[in-house]
Amino acid sequence: MNETRISVSLESYQYPDGTVALNDIHLSVARGEFTGILGSNGSGKTTLLKIMDGLTKGYQGEVLLDGENVLRLHPRDIYRKVGLVFQNPDDQLFATTVFEDTAFGPRNMGFGEAEVRARVEGALASVDMTEFAMKGIHNLSYGQKKRACIAGLLAMGHEILLLDEPTAGLDPMGEYRMMELLTRLNKEQGVTIVMATHSVDLVPIFLHQLHILSRGRLVRGGTPEQVFTAPDELAQVKLRLPHIAELIYKLKHEEKLSFGRIPLTIGEARREIVEAMGR
Ligand SMILES: Nc1ncnc2c1ncn2[C@@H]1O[C@H](COP(=O)(O)OP(=O)(O)O)[C@@H](O)[C@H]1O
Ligand SMILES: [Mg+2]
Repeated sequence: MNETRISVSLESYQYPDGTVALNDIHLSVARGEFTGILGSNGSGKTTLLKIMDGLTKGYQGEVLLDGENVLRLHPRDIYRKVGLVFQNPDDQLFATTVFEDTAFGPRNMGFGEAEVRARVEGALASVDMTEFAMKGIHNLSYGQKKRACIAGLLAMGHEILLLDEPTAGLDPMGEYRMMELLTRLNKEQGVTIVMATHSVDLVPIFLHQLHILSRGRLVRGGTPEQVFTAPDELAQVKLRLPHIAELIYKLKHEEKLSFGRIPLTIGEARREIVEAMGR
């Protein structure tokens, strides 16, 4: 069950202009996990995802996909298993319609038209985009574009999705829907997910595992409960606690109200408050 799919062991990665973007990164992603890479702007999230996907090379270290060095795999063998969803959907989508864009991957993999159609229909259904199949890419909303990108990868049969800030640029309801979609893919279709994000409020509701990246280094990792402890520790890495946790933390430490633990979500906070009120 706890089988490692991706294992990253990097000493460093330096861009050609001399910027050292990553240092001493060791992490692994197990089958079926929903993992977050959390970090402020410029912390190295995009660089790390591109290295995991085999797009960025020239680093000191090793990335294994199912035990094999990604730099020695044919791109085809990487893309059969892993797909990266770029932060900006306009960097990913290029065909005229949603259907054509989603069909590009499976067609390129050599499937016949009947199989391509079945895959596209399945992938669009998975991301709630069936009704937009014939719509022009340019007429989609930003959130619909993001979902179309995910469909394109699902249609190729990816078991591992790497997503770069999938909720960035979406409105609050769109953020929530995106996280629910990813949770559904993870739980119901068994897709292993690694997402880069800086949205601390969404993380504890949805993610199992979390790695905090700061200035190219992994500074903490674990479950949301293990990672979100004190506000000052997060401030050091230019992040904060989820709002609800910050409130309860202040009530506990500054107003000296008795809370056993610091809840991270509204639901947990509600239970803790009701308990603290002795009801
Ligand atoms: N193509 C590039 N050339 C030089 N430096 C880059 C390039 N892309 C990113 N960087 C630098 O690498 C660091 C990490 O960037 P990035 O991985 O994009 O962070 P994040 O995705 O967390 O915002 C930053 O200091 C950024 O300026
Ligand atoms: Mg980025």
